[in-house]
Amino acid sequence: MTFSDKTVAKRRWRAMLYSLLAIIALAMILPSLGYVAAWAQSGPMVIGYESRDSNPRADMWRDARQSVAGTTDQSGPYTTNVLINNSGEIWREIRSGREGVPSPLKRFGGWIMLLSLAAIAVFFAVFGRNKIEGGREGLTVPRWTMYERVLHWFVAITFIVLGITGLSLLFGRTVLIPVLGARGFAAYAQVAMTVHNFVGPAFGVALVLMIISWLGVNIPKRVDLEWLKTFGGYFGGGHAPSEKLNGGEKLWYWIGVVGLGLAVVITGFILDFPNFGQDRATMALAHVIHAGAAMFWIALFFGHAYMGTLGTEGALEGMTTGRVDTAWAKQHHNLWYAQLLEQGVKPMPAEPPRGGPPPSAKSVTGSST
Ligand code: HEM
Repeated sequence: MTFSDKTVAKRRWRAMLYSLLAIIALAMILPSLGYVAAWAQSGPMVIGYESRDSNPRADMWRDARQSVAGTTDQSGPYTTNVLINNSGEIWREIRSGREGVPSPLKRFGGWIMLLSLAAIAVFFAVFGRNKIEGGREGLTVPRWTMYERVLHWFVAITFIVLGITGLSLLFGRTVLIPVLGARGFAAYAQVAMTVHNFVGPAFGVALVLMIISWLGVNIPKRVDLEWLKTFGGYFGGGHAPSEKLNGGEKLWYWIGVVGLGLAVVITGFILDFPNFGQDRATMALAHVIHAGAAMFWIALFFGHAYMGTLGTEGALEGMTTGRVDTAWAKQHHNLWYAQLLEQGVKPMPAEPPRGGPPPSAKSVTGSST
């Protein structure tokens, strides 16, 4: 490694570290303000029972059974002197079902995620991997900056953590109790819920940063319709023209990241911070939208993750190294590649793969579809 290679590598690491620190700082500090507000406003959960040494909830139900008059909850947004909450009962049936009737929420979510996986398997069986035609050219152009990559992987990793913890809370009774036992699941669920509640707000802030950063390259254009008509040439042959992002990626951005993402994040904040005056019916509605939109989003995410890894040769390295092979750029984003050349961007030789010789650099010019 030459002196200048070392300096470039050092600068890269420093840029990555600073981007990561900035995102983590924003993602952790902003949501913490909500926790501080929640803590400042917190009072006893069950008024009138706080002085007892025993479990206030158990005391409350014992009194209710024995018809002892009293206040059963905080006043204000919560239901005062209401023993059975009707909207709560409806919510419980939607979330957990009842004797002989499965939960519609779990049914909808479970099926949509399984169907997505099945559709991807069929798609892969029919079309296989979308390979770089004619092989790599050994020259690369810049695609994603360090900041964009760190932001992307922060969102992706926290998304997966939230997906696993969220799904295990919703499906845990059915899927995990038979494996872990009731006590094991209770212990696991406690940890999962805490992780979910703390990672959620950090994810929300990073997601908003992502939406803002990539708004400009996701503006829908007429050319995207052409791409969508043949799904990038999968149906109907040939290649569809594309700018930096194609019609499919823009759908993922608008339907997944913006639409479902904001629905999940906003309802998540309503659930995570119940100290801003929202009543129980609002919380119940927020929960159903949160879980339903999240599962729909996970189903779409499977498609995104497949396309970014197994489905398209050469796509992942753009999001890991920041650069893509010129052959990939011409094949998948021809209009963007032509623009780069017009702007005077010079393709550079690819870094040699570890332990192997560098791929030979072929011609740089021209852009095919
Ligand atoms: C393991 C999971 C993931 C993998 C492997 C992955 C892979 C990729 C790759 C390779 C790209 C670059 C595509 C290109 O250069 O054209 C990309 C772009 C992108 N990813 Fe991911 N990703 C993952 C998770 C996520 C998640 C969880 C989100 C959001 C919640 C997300 C949002 C985006 C967005 C917004 C773009 C830019 C394209 C657009 O705006 O449509 N990714 N991803």
